[in-house]
Amino acid sequence: MAGAWFETVAEAQRRAKRRLPPSVYGALVAGSEKGVTIEQNQDAFARLGFAPHVAGHQPERDLSTTVMGIPVSMPVLISPTGVQAVHPEGEVAVARAAANRGTIMGLSSFASKAVEDVAEANPNTFFQMYWSGSRDAMVQRMERARAAGAKGLIATLDWSFSNGRDWGSPWIPEKLTLKAAMRFAPQALTRPAWLADYLRTGRVPDLSAPNLEPPGGEAPTFFGAYYEWMTTPPPSWEDVAWLREQWGGPFMLKGVTRIDDAKRAVDAGVTAISVSNHGGNNLDTTPATIRVLPGVADAVGSQIEVLLDGGVRRGSDVAKALAFGAKAVMIGRAYLWGLAANGQAGVENVLDLLRGGLDSAVLGLGKASIHELDRADFIAPPDFFLKLGEGDERQARPTRPRRPRAGTAQKPVAAETHPDEVTAATAQGG
Ligand SMILES: Cc1cc2nc3c(=O)[nH]c(=O)nc-3n(C[C@H](O)[C@H](O)[C@H](O)COP(=O)(O)O)c2cc1C
Repeated sequence: MAGAWFETVAEAQRRAKRRLPPSVYGALVAGSEKGVTIEQNQDAFARLGFAPHVAGHQPERDLSTTVMGIPVSMPVLISPTGVQAVHPEGEVAVARAAANRGTIMGLSSFASKAVEDVAEANPNTFFQMYWSGSRDAMVQRMERARAAGAKGLIATLDWSFSNGRDWGSPWIPEKLTLKAAMRFAPQALTRPAWLADYLRTGRVPDLSAPNLEPPGGEAPTFFGAYYEWMTTPPPSWEDVAWLREQWGGPFMLKGVTRIDDAKRAVDAGVTAISVSNHGGNNLDTTPATIRVLPGVADAVGSQIEVLLDGGVRRGSDVAKALAFGAKAVMIGRAYLWGLAANGQAGVENVLDLLRGGLDSAVLGLGKASIHELDRADFIAPPDFFLKLGEGDERQARPTRPRRPRAGTAQKPVAAETHPDEVTAATAQGG
């Protein structure tokens, strides 16, 4: 039965596919271009192996931690996503599930529910914003979130409007007008359980962005909001610092993959970063986040909190991210599949699976706490980890001597700057 417990996130995804109209399901799969990054985010976790112990395990294990000053029962947060049309209770159901499981809710500014309702459902809510609209509009939106009780701000800046998918993008109407409903009806009718959920509420899916409503005005449609975002000049690092200053409280920059960017984020005064490639929805062929995590964590982890998102589907993935430098992870599709499969209970189901899997990993590795997870407990293939943007162009530091080519004289290379070595993503083994 559709409402029942599921044993893995893969099963939740299968149920979501059966339950959701194809265009809604397709919008959650998302990904961009060839879908390389979205695949690799998950595959990379599978390429890291465990080195478990056989005895000497700990009878009790502590999975709790803090993120940006907020205690959480486990190091798994809800990453912000626009969950338009997945479930009538949308982000409110997700927020309740996160609250029941003792963790933080990340709410997208493109979400379908108002920040006031979400923060009421989960007092530990972080509000997410893009660099979109005028500065006054950005301040008004963050002040509204603050007044609603949001405890942190997430600025997501990694989107570069790359569009087009080789498998085709789903059709999403601008508004659910009668004409759009007629076009949508054939696929909705093939999903009676999903349709019934909406019919029970007496409302059609709302495709507006209520958290972007101007004072005294109307909430923009999803596409209206997207247009504003696309036409806003992109931010500089000074703008990031400005945004952080306006908020004044715990502030996360989401979307960092490069070491030089992570250092600039520190300079801009952020509290935390999330190593993220937007779940493979941005520039396709950006490497898997777990592969770039340790380089970033080693560079800035002593100064700010480093989180990771992208490809997390199991508790063992969480253990790997923590061992390689993350303080916590954020999940996107995993909870979206749970929400689609079984509403709030489905999201709780997903969080329970991740908690159980993480606990198994900590147990098998003989640790008493997630804080003891260590890189030495895992096996990585050669050249698995990457350091992107390792050379910091601002400081024109000398580069390491180049390795001589086979058959050439072993002449030391003077400390000079080789532009191709300091600017490009430099692959590193180990
Ligand atoms: C359907 C969908 C909508 C998303 N919307 C947002 C958003 O509004 N804001 C944001 O910061 N990230 C958004 N993301 C990215 C997620 O927050 C997160 O980075 C990503 O889903 C992590 O990868 P995962 O899905 O493999 O867990 C979205 C992702 C998906 C799949």
